[in-house]
Amino acid sequence: MKVLVIGKGGREHTIAWKVKESTVVKEVFIAPGNVGMEEIGTLINISEENIEALANFAEQKKIDLTIVGPESVLALGVVDEFEKRGLKIFGPTAAAAEIESSKDFAKKLMKRYNVPTGAYETFEDLTLAKQYIKKNGVPIVIKEDGLKAGKGVTVAFSKDEAIEALEMAFSIPGNKVVIEEYLDGFEFSIIALTNGKIVIPLEVAQDHKRAYDNDKGPNTGGMGVYSPVDKIDSKIIDETVEKILKPMALGMVQDGIPFKGFLFGGIMLTKDGVKTIEFNARFGDPEAEGILPRLKSDFVKAILDLMEEKEIQLEWDKRYTVAIVMASENYPKTSTIGVEIEIPKDLNSLVFHMGTRKSSGKLETNGGRVLSVVSYGETLEEAREKAYSDVKKIKCEKMFFRNDIGSKMCYNNKNK
Ligand code: AMP
Ligand code: GLY
Repeated sequence: MKVLVIGKGGREHTIAWKVKESTVVKEVFIAPGNVGMEEIGTLINISEENIEALANFAEQKKIDLTIVGPESVLALGVVDEFEKRGLKIFGPTAAAAEIESSKDFAKKLMKRYNVPTGAYETFEDLTLAKQYIKKNGVPIVIKEDGLKAGKGVTVAFSKDEAIEALEMAFSIPGNKVVIEEYLDGFEFSIIALTNGKIVIPLEVAQDHKRAYDNDKGPNTGGMGVYSPVDKIDSKIIDETVEKILKPMALGMVQDGIPFKGFLFGGIMLTKDGVKTIEFNARFGDPEAEGILPRLKSDFVKAILDLMEEKEIQLEWDKRYTVAIVMASENYPKTSTIGVEIEIPKDLNSLVFHMGTRKSSGKLETNGGRVLSVVSYGETLEEAREKAYSDVKKIKCEKMFFRNDIGSKMCYNNKNK
């Protein structure tokens, strides 16, 4: 069969790589993809936002299954358009994808379905929002409504910081802001494959959202993950599925906005159990790079079975993975384009391209997050050491990475 993957980042590189392994797949197309994916499939020069053109391509090429990577494309209604034309596509409709594109919408659903999450209020007015901060104090979390690629969130530990975030948010006309209770605990990412009714959790990963070591600096789309997360045992996973993922999916079916695709929960393990920080309507990035290399089952068969309402069982590689993101200097503020990158041929790691291009035959940076370097290990420490050893062999003058991906847990492991 022929599969089309939509997107151009590290997540899509990993999805396409996994799709290519499937025994039922003959051809992989990626629109628009990036140079890192050239060996996996055929890159199609259609912008991911051009839904009409993507659907035309899928019709003409007789694509059997399309998998969508980015949230922006989902929010634009790619699934609605494909389904209108009778094309098979794995992802939520624009209405269901609102669980990510509107924090306010997601919070309302969580409240209605009794999904555990922090207390919150939504504001459209700066003065009222400031009063709420004065009343509730800090720490407190300010989230702009709308898609912000993980960057519209301020966890404020001082009132000044909170007020500054509010003023910034309300400087954009018509912006809505969710102000949320600060949740203290251990954060993890859980992504489930779902057709709305059946919810199959994948293995858990932990992201590192802040730009710099020791969780310093601004929030980013994610600077690295590891998987599995020992601290999140099967009991906690079951609790997350039963209290958070299933009620959300089943509630959305009942409300007539069924969610099909990758249902992503950003979860905080607090002293009162698991609570939802956010939902995303797609696979995580770099979560995909950490999780999918551990999947032993046929990814495409699993998706197809699920879409036909069949229960599926997934098999996992027991080894650990560590994925380290190499980003352009100044990310997430700015990104670098056109700086040469040299990747030695003899690396042991998998290298997924997040934002690269080729110019005169040379590989260059092309965006904020540039590469995701992934290694396996029998222990987390081994995976970590291998990944860092390869990261250090990749040459580029304008890239940085965090030095502590997975190290907090390595430390805990040692002291267990
Ligand atoms: P989000 O885009 O909602 O995932 O937020 C980005 C990051 O901010 C999360 O990954 C958390 O680390 C942090 N964060 C968001 N909401 C909260 C909260 N209510 N309590 C504590 N940290 C939060
Ligand atoms: N890495 C977090 C995300 O994809 O939202």
